[in-house]
Amino acid sequence: MTVLLDAILPLPVFGKGKVRDTYDLGDALLIVVTDRISAFDVVLPCGIPDKGAVLNQMAAFWFEKTAQLVPNHVIKTVNFLNDMKPYISNIDMLPDYLSGRSMVVKKAKVIPVECVVRGYLSGSAWEEYKKQGTISGVQQPEGLQESQELPQPLFTPTTKAQTGHDMPLTWKELEKQIGNKLANEVKEKSLAVYNYARGYARQRDIIIADTKFEFGIINGEVSLVDEVLTPDSSRFWDVRSYVIGRSQPSFDKQPVRDWLDKSGWNKQPPAPVLPDDVIQATARRYRKAYRLLTGRELQHVSG
Ligand SMILES: Nc1ncnc2c1ncn2[C@@H]1O[C@H](COP(=O)(O)OP(=O)(O)O)[C@@H](O)[C@H]1O
Ligand SMILES: [Mg+2]
Repeated sequence: MTVLLDAILPLPVFGKGKVRDTYDLGDALLIVVTDRISAFDVVLPCGIPDKGAVLNQMAAFWFEKTAQLVPNHVIKTVNFLNDMKPYISNIDMLPDYLSGRSMVVKKAKVIPVECVVRGYLSGSAWEEYKKQGTISGVQQPEGLQESQELPQPLFTPTTKAQTGHDMPLTWKELEKQIGNKLANEVKEKSLAVYNYARGYARQRDIIIADTKFEFGIINGEVSLVDEVLTPDSSRFWDVRSYVIGRSQPSFDKQPVRDWLDKSGWNKQPPAPVLPDDVIQATARRYRKAYRLLTGRELQHVSG
């Protein structure tokens, strides 16, 4: 099975991220999810079969499910090239591999913060809590353990850094940056979407430990943009291997992390090429996450 590492389309580029290649369609964008994968903040030289389709279709699934709670940027998920006809004049020039892994969205004025919600104590929040008993500067109860469910989900926004790491924002800093009204609005919407999604996922044996949303203004309305509730924007854990008091294996990337750890790689680019069995094991995990969560069959990409 072939993987897509780079979308090279005859359209103006809006941006190329770690995983997604985005094209500018004027008032709209075409977001193409490649099969690239990153680990320890480095994009690996090999792709994961079906990963782009899984991420795209999972985001589409959640956008659909949560549209009642918050409007979002989706115009059309691309299942067939013809789906793009109303938005792109010459679709004959476009490759078949776009179907299944891309969507046309409304261009938004992006609110420049990362809206992180945490339901469980992990990652940078655990590091902060261990050191000083706070999360995003807010005092927490004593005696919490790593990976423990928090008494209630916390909104822990960060800066949206162009380069380097995102930095935590206190509530005051957030208000200063985007204003009190918008700060409250993105907080409420973030918590509402997270609460809904984590309940949904939990019934399907997946813990969404934390996640990151981005919002933008579309036609004057605060709307969800970017990707939502995918393994790339969230920590997914398997309920069956969940144990409090230690870090949890990642539902999707653990085979990659384990192999890279053992390889002796110094975590500086370039990363080594993964062996095929690790690639296939990772692909199976992404497909499983999709199947479990959505109950749908993945629409395979062609080409
Ligand atoms: N509907 C939208 N309108 C405008 N910009 C968007 C929209 N959806 C996502 N974006 C922006 O597109 C960019 C996508 O970058 P991404 O592929 O995620 O790269 P990175 O790896 O740098 O996060 C982000 O800056 C995001 O804010
Ligand atoms: Mg991003």
